[in-house]
Amino acid sequence: MNKISERAYAKLNLSLDVTGTRPDGYHEMRMLMQSVDLCDEVKISLTHDGEIRVRTNLRYLPSDGRNIAWKAARAFFDGLGEEGKNLGAEISLKKRIPVCAGLGGGSSDGAAVLRALNRLLDAKLSPERLEELGGPLGSDVPFCVRGGTQLAEGRGDELKILPPLPDCGIVICKPPFSVSTPELFRHVDERRSHNHPDTDGMISAIGCGELRGVTQRLYNVFEDVPGRHRAAAAEIKSRMLDLGAMGTVMSGTGPSVFGVFEDMEQAGRAREALSRRWRDCFSARPAAPDTFS
Ligand code: C5P
Repeated sequence: MNKISERAYAKLNLSLDVTGTRPDGYHEMRMLMQSVDLCDEVKISLTHDGEIRVRTNLRYLPSDGRNIAWKAARAFFDGLGEEGKNLGAEISLKKRIPVCAGLGGGSSDGAAVLRALNRLLDAKLSPERLEELGGPLGSDVPFCVRGGTQLAEGRGDELKILPPLPDCGIVICKPPFSVSTPELFRHVDERRSHNHPDTDGMISAIGCGELRGVTQRLYNVFEDVPGRHRAAAAEIKSRMLDLGAMGTVMSGTGPSVFGVFEDMEQAGRAREALSRRWRDCFSARPAAPDTFS
């Protein structure tokens, strides 16, 4: 086996909370994360010239050491020590997940590269070891290694696997602009107090398989920060609720917003209606990478 392909699933934040600052300059987070089957396709073949090459279908994405897929391959080979010294890889990324959208597209590509190289080389690194290698590449990479439904704390790398979210239909809508992550954190830091999601209530609802208990509690503290994203989120959320969404929220650092629907049929209809106003609309289902199952 010299070439394989791996799906890199998008992630959504069912809840996102900032609970403090850390001595390393990062923030303490508490997030419920969910993978969905909107995905990038990652194809990798091994070479033995020590070079890592990345190609993507989006011309504006860097294909050198700035690309997280490139960094993930480097981290994997370096993690193998002497054995990884002359190894190289050709990586092809077919991007479908919108970029800079709060959907973890780059992090998921990085995690998919780690899983794929583990399989290609039959290296048998544990998921925990892959999460450790992925941590320095981006705060969402550790979650994306196993995906599914997880609680992420600390920098995002203290993970607890939860039971899967009950099946449902999800519509994701990405407004056509990006949000500055440092600005969001700055605003949250400057506030003396802010609302917090009921993360524990959500965890209990997930444990009981009660979708409504989850959708009633969807909450992201970044959505409260004033700015263009808040106005767009309000408009999209209101439209999604009109179309029958059980609950709606902005994902991660935005600007993408998602709505949870009872099934894919409802989600499909809502996606169609929303796409008349917003170009980047997707319907999706909860998912998890199958490599470790
Ligand atoms: O790790 P990642 O590249 O996703 O983080 C982007 C930026 O978000 C970091 O440079 C940092 O400013 C901020 N961040 C943070 N605390 C976290 C995660 C990210 O302050 N837990």
